[in-house]
Amino acid sequence: MTSNTYHQAPATVAAAPPGCPMHAQWSPLDDDYLADPYPIASALRDEHPVFYAPEMGHVVVTRMEDIEHVFMHPDVFASTNVQDPIFPLAPEAAAILGADDFDPVAVMSNRPEPDHARIRVYTRRGFSNRRLKALEDYMRERATILLDHMIDAGSPAEYVQALAFPLPAEIVFRLLGFPPEDDAMIKSWCGNRKAFSWGKPSAAEQADIARGMLDYWRYCRDFVASRRDERADDFTSELLDAHDADPDPSNGTGISYREVESVVYGISFAGHDPVTALLCNTLRCLLPRRDQWDALCADPSLAAAAVDETLRYESSQVSWRRITTQPTTLGGIDLPAGTRLLLNFAAANHEPDMFGDPDTFDIHRDNANRHISFGKGIHFCLGAGLARMEARLALELLSQRLPSLQLVPDQTLSFFPNITFRGPDQLHLEWDEA
Ligand code: HEM
Repeated sequence: MTSNTYHQAPATVAAAPPGCPMHAQWSPLDDDYLADPYPIASALRDEHPVFYAPEMGHVVVTRMEDIEHVFMHPDVFASTNVQDPIFPLAPEAAAILGADDFDPVAVMSNRPEPDHARIRVYTRRGFSNRRLKALEDYMRERATILLDHMIDAGSPAEYVQALAFPLPAEIVFRLLGFPPEDDAMIKSWCGNRKAFSWGKPSAAEQADIARGMLDYWRYCRDFVASRRDERADDFTSELLDAHDADPDPSNGTGISYREVESVVYGISFAGHDPVTALLCNTLRCLLPRRDQWDALCADPSLAAAAVDETLRYESSQVSWRRITTQPTTLGGIDLPAGTRLLLNFAAANHEPDMFGDPDTFDIHRDNANRHISFGKGIHFCLGAGLARMEARLALELLSQRLPSLQLVPDQTLSFFPNITFRGPDQLHLEWDEA
């Protein structure tokens, strides 16, 4: 595999850098951490801002200042490992992904400079105001239809299935131009991707996921080929137009056909799972705090602030990764080249120096948008505007149509075991029926 391959060869678990403190007992896959990472992350941060976690072979970085330093120095802290499986791949999964035609290339989050900047010129266009505006109308229409179905079926409802899963997936698939009749099939392929790169699936699960990834890559390639022959008003066609105009990346400006295929493959996953989690997390934060929910119902313009405070307080992404390209020092700890870093957003988003009373959820907080949940710097989340729009719109609709909405009491939430993405597998809601 080359350094531009989408999913790199299986990682080896690295040793602790000399002199780096260690939390030998902690793993981000521990049940208690998955259930509620915040008190644990804060305690770890307060004891050692930078420490080594042996189970994963990563150095964990917990303070906002250090995480921002990492994001702002991509020459020292590369992003090439962000899509890699954390644990070595089992042979069967590796063989499936070794198929001759499984050849997506790194294009966005895991592509180094200068190519990343070259490609981002094109990918940015997919999130232009014109496209977001067009999507907002579609989003409102689809959200209204999904909500109508949920209300018609009656209280109680399971929100992930009713709206939080279908809505973000459909939005990103329409952005790319995938036909609606393929939605169910595509969603089934994307479902377990987070286990592959961010979890610890068994060998049999890895093989299943790998088969889904291969099918999905083949689907993306066929879809791009269909648009090559016949364009439409979608982001994929826009990328192909750009490719036709400047097909040769070696001149420093063009975008190759394989890169177009790989952008379609990458964005269709990046674009929905964390939004599903965000839609759920907004309700987990707001509904039990009745005064804040009632304030939103009275003034829906508070929805945008509620979304950012949710991204800070209960983020749908609690970590991200980097790897050092050269020896460096971070938080007073010397790190050799090749050190894998786990940037712990859960700890940084609850840092008392940055956010007063950090463990209180407050939609009136004036600096909530200083959270790090979308990253920072050259790889700052391309879909941040879209994610915020979807979550705001869902909150506006729900608060206006179901002001009596609440979480079904005493439900036990479960969270898919992985180190990065965090939202409940199911969320049961109830409301007063007229
Ligand atoms: C709540 C929802 C979301 C969260 C929390 C989130 C978070 C992130 C984070 C942490 C990064 C990495 C930043 C870095 O490495 O510095 C990222 C990158 C990215 N995100 Fe998102 N994201 C969300 C939604 C979306 C959506 C809706 C899309 C697209 C439809 C999207 C597309 C991307 C892309 C393409 C990148 C790579 C950008 C680059 O490398 O230039 N994300 N996101």
